[in-house]
Amino acid sequence: MGSPDFVFSGKFHIDSMIADLEKGFALRQKCNKNLTLYPGIREIGCRYFKRTFVRARKELSMASYQHIESAVIHGGIYGDRTTGAVNTPIYQTSTYEQPALGQNTGWEYSRTGNPTRAALEALIAELEGGSAGFAFASGLAAITAVLSLFRQGDRILLCSNVYGGTFRLLNQVFDHFGLRFSITDTTDLDTFERAFTEDVRAVLVESPANPLLTVTDLRAVSEIAHHHGVLSIVDNTFMTPYLQRPLELGADIVVHSATKYLGGHSDLIAGLAVVKDAELASRLAFLQNASGGILGPFDSFLLIRGIKTLGVRMDRHVENAMRAAAFLRENPAVKTVYYPGLPDAQGYEVNRSQAKNGGAMMSFELDEHHDIRTFFSSLRLIALAESLGGVESLVCHPATMTHASIPKEIREAAGITDGLIRLSIGIENIDDLLADLAQAIKKSEV
Ligand SMILES: Cc1ncc(COP(=O)(O)O)c(C=O)c1O
Repeated sequence: MGSPDFVFSGKFHIDSMIADLEKGFALRQKCNKNLTLYPGIREIGCRYFKRTFVRARKELSMASYQHIESAVIHGGIYGDRTTGAVNTPIYQTSTYEQPALGQNTGWEYSRTGNPTRAALEALIAELEGGSAGFAFASGLAAITAVLSLFRQGDRILLCSNVYGGTFRLLNQVFDHFGLRFSITDTTDLDTFERAFTEDVRAVLVESPANPLLTVTDLRAVSEIAHHHGVLSIVDNTFMTPYLQRPLELGADIVVHSATKYLGGHSDLIAGLAVVKDAELASRLAFLQNASGGILGPFDSFLLIRGIKTLGVRMDRHVENAMRAAAFLRENPAVKTVYYPGLPDAQGYEVNRSQAKNGGAMMSFELDEHHDIRTFFSSLRLIALAESLGGVESLVCHPATMTHASIPKEIREAAGITDGLIRLSIGIENIDDLLADLAQAIKKSEV
């Protein structure tokens, strides 16, 4: 399954990395009006950067690669030349000593820039095929920074199955500042087209969306957005760049709750944003520094570490998910299964054309002869918990958990019923997982 030409081409080498760094200095200068860059600082910064992080040209060319499985391990900024450490050090510092008045090493203050965070930002930019990445303290902090690009009177079009926290952010926070939003069915392109009003400035979609796994045609939506002169923003949390790269499908901004598959071990909260366009990069760099919701050095390190195993984890997640979806589909107690990897799922073909496969998230409903509360309390291996994308399998009840902040009528109109169960399939042995699901379904019979 999946599109046959889904090939990653690694393109970060020492020269482009240094060129990007130089651009970064120019950007920072442009963004931070209070920052005075003195002659020579750019050069000092580049030398420092090169000396500290980048392996010698020879070593680096030996580490060149063509595939994303290698990029997750060697991508972005790799290694530490000072010590030869193969892992990016944790620069647990808030500030940096300046060599002389009016000079610095390229790093001044860790809200503005930190080497460990910079390594993560370069890595996610490379994996998503963007030009700049930004790391935040959570997925919602990343989305907050992205939404801060807009102004009072602007309107955002949201896909109908959006993550509850994104809805709440627009509905209860940005609303106070006059940023409006409308929910529209982005899976139906005619409905989507009709939702455009004069004040729309961006479209924010998830595909597959949370929690019904509805698939939106990201190429078409980005094309329509651009036709209307607005930005296309994609939340790629459920797929990760290993399975889907929205910037290559025409999106302008990709956001992630890196808390999920990218971190992969349910041990950190983090968010990422990636863009291609230099102007957008400069505006986001400004917002990241100005609003300050940055990811700390230790969590940046943990996230880099998590991303190294993204390829093997995702392969196993998806293999398990295919088996779990088939199991649920065949179980007579299960009324509906939502999983974009099933050939009769909504958007199956569209998903195949834009992603490697259907991912590892699914939702399902038990029939009226089963009690959902008993089902949840009977699970022994699979934990009832918020979140997803960790190595351990988790279930959740969207109506009272992840999507509780969406009013009931909007939730139900979108198909998020009180009986819906969301399953994040982990990488445990699939037979153990299926046995756990089977016994909990049996116990929940009424
Ligand atoms: C699709 C999606 N986007 C964004 C978020 C928010 O991310 P975080 O919890 O890291 O703030 C979540 C969290 O569950 C999510 O599922």
